[in-house]
Amino acid sequence: MNLSVLAVASEMSPLVKTGGLADVVGALPAALAREGVNTRTLIPGYPEVLAALGHGETVLAFDDLFGGPAWVQEGKLDRAIVYALVAPHLYARDGGPYADGNGVDYPDNAFRFAALALAAAEIAQGAINNFAADALHAHDWQAALAPAYLHYSAKPRPATIVTIHNIAFQGQFAKELLADLRLPPESFAMDGVEYYGAIGFLKAGLQLCDRITTVSPSYALEIETAEFGMGLDGLLRARAEIVSGILNGVDEGVWNPATDKRIAATYDAATPGARAKNRAALQKRFHLEPDPDAFLLGVVSRMSWQKGHDMLLANLPVLMARHAQLALLGAGEKHLEEGFLAAQDAYPGRVSAWIGYSEDMAHLIQAGADAFVVPSRFEPCGLTQLYALRYGAVPIVSRVGGLKDTIIDANEMAVQAGVATGVQFSPPTTEALAIALRRAEHFFRDKDTWRRLQINGMDTDVSWRHPAQRYAALYREAVAARR
Ligand code: ADP
Ligand code: GLC
Repeated sequence: MNLSVLAVASEMSPLVKTGGLADVVGALPAALAREGVNTRTLIPGYPEVLAALGHGETVLAFDDLFGGPAWVQEGKLDRAIVYALVAPHLYARDGGPYADGNGVDYPDNAFRFAALALAAAEIAQGAINNFAADALHAHDWQAALAPAYLHYSAKPRPATIVTIHNIAFQGQFAKELLADLRLPPESFAMDGVEYYGAIGFLKAGLQLCDRITTVSPSYALEIETAEFGMGLDGLLRARAEIVSGILNGVDEGVWNPATDKRIAATYDAATPGARAKNRAALQKRFHLEPDPDAFLLGVVSRMSWQKGHDMLLANLPVLMARHAQLALLGAGEKHLEEGFLAAQDAYPGRVSAWIGYSEDMAHLIQAGADAFVVPSRFEPCGLTQLYALRYGAVPIVSRVGGLKDTIIDANEMAVQAGVATGVQFSPPTTEALAIALRRAEHFFRDKDTWRRLQINGMDTDVSWRHPAQRYAALYREAVAARR
């Protein structure tokens, strides 16, 4: 039986992206189509989204959606239908999807994303001709109010699923907004949208949806603990029966070293030697010494406490003494950006920090680095280590969340059995990372073992096939339970 799903999210690659959420939302429709699930995706009509989609048919209109007129415009991305919520008073702005050019959150984010959720709820209840959704799938806090609107509506509703991509972002707003957000008075309660005296968008979604997922089995367990749950662990323990973890996959149309047009030379698991050209190109683009023996580390990441790159910074003096190089691409917290820029000055030709955002550079680093470092303090899934596996850059990762679930540590037995794909460390501390870097370098100096790690990684199935099957099964189960 075919199913129809309305996905709702604040990002969708390649239309608008700030992180892995976009990659996932962009890849799911095609992967799910192969499992008999037709997905239509509702996203905000940011300027870049409307520019990329071009003019489309208006399929739904609102006279007043939180302060101005709005309408839903139908577009296409590859073969999937995308609904853009056009609301100039909410989305026609310079700056990013969530914050202005100075990184300050827009003051009306509550309404910007309540609008997305309210439009989603109406579509899920049949507001668009010839589209009946069996399930609504909301991603992260920006979409999480949709199950709440459906819950408090008198009309029939489809099954609802909320996926947590990162529990650190919860969308909390003043309780005085309740009526303006068109939430009924009775919703302000423990078993509703109330969260520590405020309105919690993610909390509301998790409380009022039918199924909760997150993006790895380990993170699904971690967020039930006080250490990782960030205040929502109690709710998640209470609803543990409906919580599951489904790993992310890699969009192989975008991330495939055999066809990638953004890298210097294409290659696959049978020709990993061709990586040398990308390695040389990477050193050149990043103004690193053209040194074939250096242990070349790569990083592509948001710069934030979560990602743990302060621990890498602290390890640079030792790494440099041991003949390593670092090519880093990232942007985010100023003190980290400045730290890596200072390291670049201190170690010219050995450390190179590209502060900013670049898809081209992200691909080149994956194709050219010897190892790829992800020292996160917590990581719901993580996509860059999956890209690294795919591209033969050996991942060095902390043992948390999705990093724990996707990388097989090169311990003695795993190496003997020929199954290792990377190096893990725990706990996430500077000292434990130091040991992991030393272990990795030791393998790097042993060419046969290193080649084995690279090939095992490249042979790992990181496609969307298995995850898509799990989502399809979950949708079917939730839809059946609702009927
Ligand atoms: P998160 O979503 O927490 O940032 P993920 O590993 O799931 O982490 O996804 C990050 C995505 O963003 C990847 O596609 C990665 O390549 C990309 N990315 C992160 N920083 C940059 C950057 N500075 N330039 C280009 N791509 C980046
Ligand atoms: C979040 C998480 C990351 C995950 C991504 C996509 O941004 O930080 O671990 O891979 O969402 O699910």
